[in-house]
Amino acid sequence: AEYLETDYIGRKIIHFDSIDSTNIKAKQLAAEGAKEGTVVIAEEQTMGRGRLGRGWVSPKGKGIWMSIILRPNIDPIDASKVTQIGAAAVWSALSKVGVDAYIKWPNDIVLNGKKVCGILTEMSAELNRINYLVIGIGVNVNINSQEIPKEINNIATSIKAEVGHDVDRKFITAEILNNFERFYNELIKYGSIKTSIEICRKASILLGREIKIITNKGERRAKAIDITEQGELLIEENGKIEKLISGEISVRGI
Ligand code: BTN
Repeated sequence: AEYLETDYIGRKIIHFDSIDSTNIKAKQLAAEGAKEGTVVIAEEQTMGRGRLGRGWVSPKGKGIWMSIILRPNIDPIDASKVTQIGAAAVWSALSKVGVDAYIKWPNDIVLNGKKVCGILTEMSAELNRINYLVIGIGVNVNINSQEIPKEINNIATSIKAEVGHDVDRKFITAEILNNFERFYNELIKYGSIKTSIEICRKASILLGREIKIITNKGERRAKAIDITEQGELLIEENGKIEKLISGEISVRGI
């Protein structure tokens, strides 16, 4: 709390020692009317959730497992912009403590080629109105390399496993929230995510590279060209340029 410089994001933090999933709890609280900016943090998740129905390993005291409740007055189609804001906020916080990571569009942060943070955005919306949106952020901070399940240790890592020492979870958490509020204000005040996109571009691990795009229709290869002001990934395949909207595909660098 001593590092927090926000007006409303994280001014109310609901802290749990152990919980199934901070996203589940945040959605529940949001449905009951919790205010925008309310944050749910847990020391441990027993049923941490990832994208595409996957789980998220969340050992006690070793990471940042948190969810932010938001009520943006934007088109539900633009919800993925909040994910880009989250990625930029986490990347900037890591950069501030000297951790040199990359952003893998649309919502992963990678360190030495392995995933160190994942973001899961979920919302409740009707037609063209968002009722609430929950952005769940999981950062593997002080997990020892031996503690990373071996089924995933070729794709997942922690800050500690890469830099060799413990880092201050409280400081990083506050920095993420400080950055998040700044970037999110830009969206709700001006309808822009310019600052976040600049960071997502600068820190992108995909741009300029041949990538593999995995959809439910199968795999394709293309070149990642740019990230647009709206947060879409521009790709080029056989000379044709196409825009990908976050959420509908998953991308893997090769
Ligand atoms: C992914 O990369 O698949 C997304 C992982 C998101 C994990 C975080 S941890 C805090 C929040 N609560 C959850 O159950 N999931 C998100």
